[in-house]
Amino acid sequence: MPIDLLPSVEHFLSRRQRLLIGGQWVDSVSGETFDTLNPATGQPLCAVASGQAEDVDRAVQAARAAFPAWAALMPAERERLLRRYAELLERHKEELAQLETLDNGKPYQVAYNVEVNVAIGQMYYYAGLPTKLKGETYAVSSPGYHVYTRREPLGVCAAITPWNYSLVMAVQKIGPALASGNTLILKPAEQTPLTAIRLAELALEADLPPGVFNLVTGYGETAGAALTRHSEVDKVAFTGSTEVGKAIMQAAAGNLKRISLELGGKSPLIIFDDAELELATEAALWAIFANSGQNCVAGSRLYVQSGAYEAVIARLAQRATELRVGPGMEANTQIGPLISQQQLERVLAYVHSAEGRIVVGGERWGSVGYFVKPTIIGELSDTSRAAVEEIFGPVLSVFRFDTEDEVLARANASRFGLAAGVWTTHLGRAHRTAAALKAGVVWINTYDWFDPAVPFGGMKESGYGRELGTQVMDMYTELKSVWVKIE
Ligand code: NAI
Ligand code: MG
Repeated sequence: MPIDLLPSVEHFLSRRQRLLIGGQWVDSVSGETFDTLNPATGQPLCAVASGQAEDVDRAVQAARAAFPAWAALMPAERERLLRRYAELLERHKEELAQLETLDNGKPYQVAYNVEVNVAIGQMYYYAGLPTKLKGETYAVSSPGYHVYTRREPLGVCAAITPWNYSLVMAVQKIGPALASGNTLILKPAEQTPLTAIRLAELALEADLPPGVFNLVTGYGETAGAALTRHSEVDKVAFTGSTEVGKAIMQAAAGNLKRISLELGGKSPLIIFDDAELELATEAALWAIFANSGQNCVAGSRLYVQSGAYEAVIARLAQRATELRVGPGMEANTQIGPLISQQQLERVLAYVHSAEGRIVVGGERWGSVGYFVKPTIIGELSDTSRAAVEEIFGPVLSVFRFDTEDEVLARANASRFGLAAGVWTTHLGRAHRTAAALKAGVVWINTYDWFDPAVPFGGMKESGYGRELGTQVMDMYTELKSVWVKIE
């Protein structure tokens, strides 16, 4: 059963979408636009302004001009405005979920029941942070001094976000940037600009002062790169590929702008013989196939202990073929399309080059849109490309192991270190392995859980810095030490 489009969504899609700069909706200086496509059909959804260096420059000036007043606002007043913003997101829940599904392809039930709720929960959490910013006093060893620290906003922040969770990733950066008194320019992924545009409209409706939140849609190589090299941008918060993360780190060296990077992963999920196997297998299934595997924390390397291996693989293979693949706007879809033709080809190239055994899937689903069948590959060597690189598609590599030491060494032998999962009923082993795994988050007997209060981020080439939690405020503020001679 197809889900009916809301009239407000139809109206939204009938407009040409523009940039939000200094509280005004404007075309790009060049007048150029690009189409955003529906990945379930490959057809255009609507035309969007293609921002470039001149547009970025105007947005940076607007954000700079708005900064002093926004930073000086009473914390309680910033909270009031951000809470109003969160309420507006809540009121437009259905619409945001439809736009996300149309633009990204993901199942509507997931967009509505999970992702929009996560975004709203985050915005309420961040809305409460302005009044919690604080410094400390120090017991210094020089007599006659009073020394304290202050947390001060950085200035103009840029958020560059990916297409896999475009709404949540945008809120995850808008919230802490604005809560700590910075102004912001959001550059969403060119594949999924729609929810970002709606977020910008709602920011105006929430009465955020002009220039506090600016939106520049456009390509990474133009709009994104212009933001990262701009000398008046004080910080870039980025989520995306490790490759672009490294380019951003280099570009940031120009004015030594602050950066936070949430990058790729190749996360191991380990099932020991003593695990509750049915629960573990179902968790492993969703750890890789949720969002069609386009998930930075996707559990893409599954290690199963020898005693459980055959049973787990057989059950996984059966469950993978039962998953309902289809357009996100069909009510019973569980697995949507990949984001683009390019991603479809990239994922299939990994599958075709894999020297292991394809247990299930391994091919395109249907002939329209960018769907790939849930795929499981067994008998791969640890060093094959499909076992080492981030595929970002519904492709699971399964490995057999014998001992705890062996599996920890294999799990950690990766340039990534974003997430890991462990299934065991042995309490000591659970905590031991959690400590030994080189990953920013470890899930024990569960997978893929998030909460706004819990920090998230990667080790090694998975990133730099932590988002979420109160710790995120460290990424959006400077710490100033003040020395006062009092005697
Ligand atoms: P990407 O890293 O190119 O895109 C992410 C964002 O960065 C987009 O907003 C894009 O416009 C922007 N961008 C691209 N080049 C830029 C540049 N030179 N300067 C500034 N901004 C730039 O990711 P892409 O190409 O869409 O996907 C390729 C692969 O990256 C995926 O297959 C996946 O492996 C990985 N990826 C990982 C994500 C994660 O959540 N960790 C999210 C998206 C992609
Ligand atoms: Mg790219």
